[in-house]
Amino acid sequence: MAKKTLANLNATDLVGKRVLVRVDFNVPQNDTGAITDDTRIRAALPTIKYVTDAGGKAILVSHLGRPKGITEKLRLNPIATRLSELLGTTVIKTDDSIGEAVATAINDAPNGSVILLENIRFYPEEEQNDREFANKLASLADLYVNDAFGTAHRAHASTEGVAEFLHPSVAGFLLDKELQYLSGAIDTPKRPLVAIVGGSKVSSKIGVIDALLEKVDKLIIGGGMIFTFYKARGLAVGKSLVEEDKLELAKSLEAKAKERGVQLLLPTDVVVADNFKPDANAQTVSIENIPDGWMGLDIGSDSIKLFQDALADSKTVIWNGPMGVFEFDKFAVGTEAIARTLAEITETGAITIIGGGDSVAAVEKVGVADKMSHISTGGGASLELLEGKVLPGIAALDEA
Ligand code: 3PG
Repeated sequence: MAKKTLANLNATDLVGKRVLVRVDFNVPQNDTGAITDDTRIRAALPTIKYVTDAGGKAILVSHLGRPKGITEKLRLNPIATRLSELLGTTVIKTDDSIGEAVATAINDAPNGSVILLENIRFYPEEEQNDREFANKLASLADLYVNDAFGTAHRAHASTEGVAEFLHPSVAGFLLDKELQYLSGAIDTPKRPLVAIVGGSKVSSKIGVIDALLEKVDKLIIGGGMIFTFYKARGLAVGKSLVEEDKLELAKSLEAKAKERGVQLLLPTDVVVADNFKPDANAQTVSIENIPDGWMGLDIGSDSIKLFQDALADSKTVIWNGPMGVFEFDKFAVGTEAIARTLAEITETGAITIIGGGDSVAAVEKVGVADKMSHISTGGGASLELLEGKVLPGIAALDEA
């Protein structure tokens, strides 16, 4: 069911209104608290500006990390500073997320202000989706906008509970864009639709592989999880990572692909190492010849070619999870080659969607992030959406 969005509201609906905007400013920071990647903050700017340009007050709510009570290191002050720089205006930062002082700060702020509330997870009631707490949060505002795609899979007070008390409750521009790309790619794709799934464990991607097999024309599998598939086929995998309890599952996924006529592509050669170290000795071997005592850490050059050929005629590609241990330069070749290939096919008209933290980091490392059609700001949320799950933060919004 389509949800109402910010674009469905008239700008006049926002004049002088207190607009509670749930954003996902859960950004990575280094030891000194400096923000190391502000993508999620920049991604929320269109919604924030739309509200303030229309003369509304944007009251921003976010979590940061997983605090147990008030945690000084997880206050949102560095985020307020960064957001002020990006907006070119001073963001008002409150020391609490609910209560009298917060309400006064909001009421005293002129129309067009941006107010950032304190880390909402300092209150345990947030994750408990406590109704009374959601109501207190709602009492600060006149309407609700959810733009926190990265947290839409959590049924928390600020993502789900609050929508019961505030109407209209609508999707912001980022949330809407994520849905258009991620759901649209799956439900009404331009074909051939190809999914690339990587990462170390089959267990963390079962749901998504299973759901994608219902939709895609081709499924490319890379990353550490391939060794569970090989072992299930009876191949020797040396010291490579294997989930022994998922061998039957790997077999059943291969059988499902066959049954549905989905071309399932696994690497035909791998780069094996004598150790899990950046400077380990390495050699490329066919998957039938993985030596005892060696472990696979990347896909080989034949496999890169195989995958590139499979991607050449694709019209929509969804990528989640790296092809190897790309944090080590020596074993980043496969992941980087895929990133470059996706950049190339985007230029010739394919829609490329990157979901999940590691693949996003990979396209950024290669410097081709801006060449992709869409880079999701949600890790867990994008996976759950691709699995076909209903995300509570979206379900709670008003119908269009
Ligand atoms: C994320 O980074 O995936 C989101 O912000 C959700 O955070 P969480 O996993 O702590 O709920």
